[in-house]
Amino acid sequence: MNTAESPVVLAADDVTITFDGRDEQGRRTTVRACDGVSLALHAGEIVALVGESGSGKTTIARALARILTPSDGEIRLHGAAITKRTKRLEYAKQVQLVYQDPFASLNSLKTLRHILGRVIRIHHPQLSGRDVDARIHELLELVALTPSKDYIDRYPTSLSGGQRQRVSIARALAVEPSVILADEPTSMLDVSIRLDVLNLLDRIRREQGVSILYITHDIASARYVSDRMCVMYHGRMVETGPTEELISNPQHPYTRLLLDAAPDPSRVKPTRYPQSV
Ligand SMILES: Nc1ncnc2c1ncn2[C@@H]1O[C@H](COP(=O)(O)OP(=O)(O)O)[C@@H](O)[C@H]1O
Ligand SMILES: [Mg+2]
Repeated sequence: MNTAESPVVLAADDVTITFDGRDEQGRRTTVRACDGVSLALHAGEIVALVGESGSGKTTIARALARILTPSDGEIRLHGAAITKRTKRLEYAKQVQLVYQDPFASLNSLKTLRHILGRVIRIHHPQLSGRDVDARIHELLELVALTPSKDYIDRYPTSLSGGQRQRVSIARALAVEPSVILADEPTSMLDVSIRLDVLNLLDRIRREQGVSILYITHDIASARYVSDRMCVMYHGRMVETGPTEELISNPQHPYTRLLLDAAPDPSRVKPTRYPQSV
């Protein structure tokens, strides 16, 4: 799929985000979490945003999700810059964030029927109860929590981390978004099920046409799933390019460092493709 030719859905344009803080002596400091960051997500594309902890990945994702406002620069959705007047609910219908921690991000006191039904009703208030139920089943099937009747009345506490992350992804899909921002969605999961979640993201973009920003510190998983890769270092975007080109010919010393640190560069791309997704 050549998604680099398809239209840009979501873009950050020279975005700077600063936080006020204090240093050890109590003096006022400013942290430049993102410093002139630009990135673009095309329709149906998976872009990996790679960088070590503290490089500014979550901060740019929060700006892309309109949770925080850039100090400078613009976020554009379908070409239109976000302003104060951009309605939050309308924006959230288009851009959904999936968090790292599937244990904290789901209300453990509510069933999956409630968790998913609530989002469906907010975004489609006209649907009847029966239609909402049908849609919940459809979403559970979509993320391979099957048969859905075995899951719909369960609580998140009775699910594994991987199953919970599938529920988080189903919840994001409930609004039929154009974009999913997945912030380290596998880093809290067992190694054995990480590939299942990556394969699920890939299937979702193929079947639903959703664009996905896959955020990770792990260049091997980025390579496995992404069409293009963006590398962040100390708040700056240091390198962007088609994944295989970037990996075979890294330009920035930090990208080379990340590749060297991967356990076995010749086997960075997993050779076994699990059947289950
Ligand atoms: N709300 C905040 N207040 C102050 N500093 C923050 C805040 N959020 C993030 N930072 C700082 O911004 C930098 C980038 O953080 P973050 O975007 O979370 O990085 P990453 O997701 O790549 O690990 C870090 O130095 C972090 O301490
Ligand atoms: Mg982060």
